[in-house]
Amino acid sequence: MRSHYCGDLNENFVDQEVTLCGWVHRRRDHGGVIFLDVRDREGIAQVVYDPDTVESFAIAEGVRNEFVIQVAGRVRLRPEGTINEDMPTGKIEVLGKKLTVLNTASTPPIQLDEHAEVGEDIRLRYRYIDLRRPEMAERLRFRSKVTNTVRNFLDDNGFLDIETPLLTRATPEGARDYLVPSRTHPGHFFALPQSPQLFKQVLMAAGMDRYYQIAKCFRDEDLRADRQPEFTQIDIETSFMDEEQIMSVTEDLVKTLFKNHLEVDLGDFPRMSHAEAMHRFGSDKPDLRMPGELIDIADLMQAVDFKVFSGPANDPESRVVALKVSQGGKLSRKEIDEYTKFVSIYGAKGLAWIKVNDVGAGVEGLQSPILKFMPAEVVDSLMQRLAAESGDIIFFGADKVKTVNEAIGALRIKVAEDLNMVKAGWAPLWVVDFPMFEQAADGSLTALHHPFTAPSVAADQLAREPLSALSRAYDMVLNGTELGGGSIRIHDRDMQQSVFKVLGVEDKEANEKFGFLLDALSYGCPPHGGIAFGLDRLVMLMTDTTSIREVIAFPKTQSAACLLTDAPGVVSAKQLSELNIRLREKSIPS
Ligand code: AMO
Ligand code: AMP
Repeated sequence: MRSHYCGDLNENFVDQEVTLCGWVHRRRDHGGVIFLDVRDREGIAQVVYDPDTVESFAIAEGVRNEFVIQVAGRVRLRPEGTINEDMPTGKIEVLGKKLTVLNTASTPPIQLDEHAEVGEDIRLRYRYIDLRRPEMAERLRFRSKVTNTVRNFLDDNGFLDIETPLLTRATPEGARDYLVPSRTHPGHFFALPQSPQLFKQVLMAAGMDRYYQIAKCFRDEDLRADRQPEFTQIDIETSFMDEEQIMSVTEDLVKTLFKNHLEVDLGDFPRMSHAEAMHRFGSDKPDLRMPGELIDIADLMQAVDFKVFSGPANDPESRVVALKVSQGGKLSRKEIDEYTKFVSIYGAKGLAWIKVNDVGAGVEGLQSPILKFMPAEVVDSLMQRLAAESGDIIFFGADKVKTVNEAIGALRIKVAEDLNMVKAGWAPLWVVDFPMFEQAADGSLTALHHPFTAPSVAADQLAREPLSALSRAYDMVLNGTELGGGSIRIHDRDMQQSVFKVLGVEDKEANEKFGFLLDALSYGCPPHGGIAFGLDRLVMLMTDTTSIREVIAFPKTQSAACLLTDAPGVVSAKQLSELNIRLREKSIPS
């Protein structure tokens, strides 16, 4: 039906007869001539109909936005003065001869020919129209090219693309499972995989050596801009490689993607220990594009007459930190109040601050509601430690370590964004030396990565001092986003059982849930490890968008619904009965 894509036409085609198929992006009637901007996946071309071509002209008069048309005509240069330099096809136009309407369209709920702000609900409900917008089409095209490069790179490096099941058992990655009831096994449920973690380890036991998969994963968790209930991983596992080799080959993969698709050289990724990242940035995914670090000042505050600071300063489970913001002195009281509200989201009970108006004038040159509580020599030491300068503002956080890290870590990023202090460009790094476990509020331990990650210590030490044990895990972080995470795995059955024991998983439960893995470990499982990257997050960063919903064709809403298909939906009584499911009274849809 078509000889060329609209977006592919340029001056090399002048005088050629072409046939285009696409949508009417815009129709302009210039009294005497009709201009149709015809759009397809590859771009937009201008087509002109003049009244000489009587029949086509009459049809052109009747077409409306989003009609699907077929155009036959001849390419010609646009007249002097009408060239559009902003448009790839802006030097030419097509003199239309024939025009066929292939389908009509109702008035679309989304205007495509202008930058109208359309609510996301409408965009998701009418996603097929939203995806016609050139920037959306471009993002999906970009994503397709990225996955193609991923496949080629991994193929060149000897990785096999192997599919793993979606109807399976729960994989513990820390989120709730999506469950699928089994008809043939009444009362039993499949879980959709939170990741292919266990299968890829079993594939290593099976001797596949190097595996990858562009894999769908399912996690029923609270959604955010960079989280979807169903998302895609570039999932990788290798045998006989240590962490250095795995990090090296996957760093190369990411560098190749940036080089090939953005012409960006990311350079070698620095490494930072988890402890250092938390200490300096309050985050395990530090954004290194902005200045400012959390500076510990507990030692200075132990004896001050301000309980808010002296309390945490004398508590080993708390932290007192200062965050200096250069040129932040210009912030108004209202803005400071807003930041106080912002840190309260993370549980901070307040946000003390000092403005440095004139650093040479001692305490007189400072402005703050908390100065009255502090002896002059404490203030002096504080200013020295922070190397404060006139025009700075200093914010303070004093609370349990977790609260301070989260609140002041997030504040560091927020203030830098608001004050335009984020450097352009890319800041990748590896975060390494994660703790093996973390302690929940009720005292129980959970695996920081997942329970299949190998510890850096022997089993007896792990059992003795679980909280100080480090793991052989590594995360790749880019511009403050966790792009990927992985680890060397446990390949020894006894060690795996020791870890389950520390986690409070009894042998019976371990055998029931992970017996197949424990068995696989005991029948000659090679040392192995791997990583998974969030493909959606990677493409989001590479296309400079702020939500993964912008790079997923059919994403779900904040409440995990699909507005296009209206899923999840109710099912018939017959289906429920076949599945041996009876709904509770209060959950029966009306
Ligand atoms: P992890 O749970 O860290 O590791 O996931 C790996 C990467 O997947 C991405 N990601 C998500 N992207 C969008 N929406 C979500 N809800 C979501 N959750 C995670 C992130 C993350 O870095 N099996 C291990 C990997 C391994 O050890 O090999 C795993 O799944 O970018
Ligand atoms: P208050 O004496 O409670 O009014 O607090 C004095 C200042 O300390 C105010 O600016 C509060 O916002 C701030 N503040 C209170 N609690 C904390 C905290 N846990 N960390 C940092 N600043 C705090």
